[in-house]
Amino acid sequence: MARIEVVLGDITRERVDAVVTAANESLMGGGGVDGAIHRAAGPRLAEAGAVVGPCDPGDAVATPAFDFAPVRHVIHTVGPVWEGGAEGEAEVLASCYRRCLEVADGLGARTVAFPAIATGVYGFPPDQAARIAVATIGATPTDVDEVRLVAFDEESRDLLNAELAR
Ligand code: APR
Repeated sequence: MARIEVVLGDITRERVDAVVTAANESLMGGGGVDGAIHRAAGPRLAEAGAVVGPCDPGDAVATPAFDFAPVRHVIHTVGPVWEGGAEGEAEVLASCYRRCLEVADGLGARTVAFPAIATGVYGFPPDQAARIAVATIGATPTDVDEVRLVAFDEESRDLLNAELAR
C-alpha cells in the first residue's frame, strides 16, 4: 500500500517517477493542470497522446514525460464531467485513481504525483473528490511507495488532509 503525502503547489515542480495529468479524452492537451504538464513536457507530449489516445473516462494510459525531466512518465487519465452526481461520477473518479496506480505499477514507478482529478473544469465537488482520492488509493494494492496528492489551493489541501486524518 502506498504512503500518501499531501502537498500544496504546482505539480510541475514535483520530482517523481510519474506525474498524473487530468486530461480530456483526446490526450492531446488542454487547459488547467493538463496545460501546465504539456508546457513542461513540450510538444512531443501531445504527439504521443495522439498516438495512445483517445482514452475513456475512468481509464489511464502512459507516455514518456519528454522535457519534463527528471519525471520519466506522464500518466494521462480522464475524469468524469460532473453532472450532479447521479451519473456514476464517483465510480468513474475512483476508477481513475485505481487505473493510474495499475499503470504506474506496469511502469515500475515508485513515486507518483496526482492532481485533484476532475475538480477544475470538470466540476467535481472538491470535498467528495478528496474522499474518493484518499479512500481509493488506500484500498488499491500497489508497488508504488509514495503517492503525492498535489493540491493547487489551500482548500483542496485542507480537504485532503482531513480525509487522511479520518
Ligand atoms: N498543479 C497542480 N494542480 C493544478 C495545476 C497545477 N499546475 N493547475 C491546475 N490545477 C488543479 C486545479 O486547481 C484543479 O483542482 O488541478 C485540478 C483539476 O483541474 P483541471 O485541470 O481543470 O482538470 P479537470 O477538472 O479534470 O478537467 C479536465 O480540463 O484542461 C482540460 O484537457 C483538460 O478537458 C480537460 C479538463
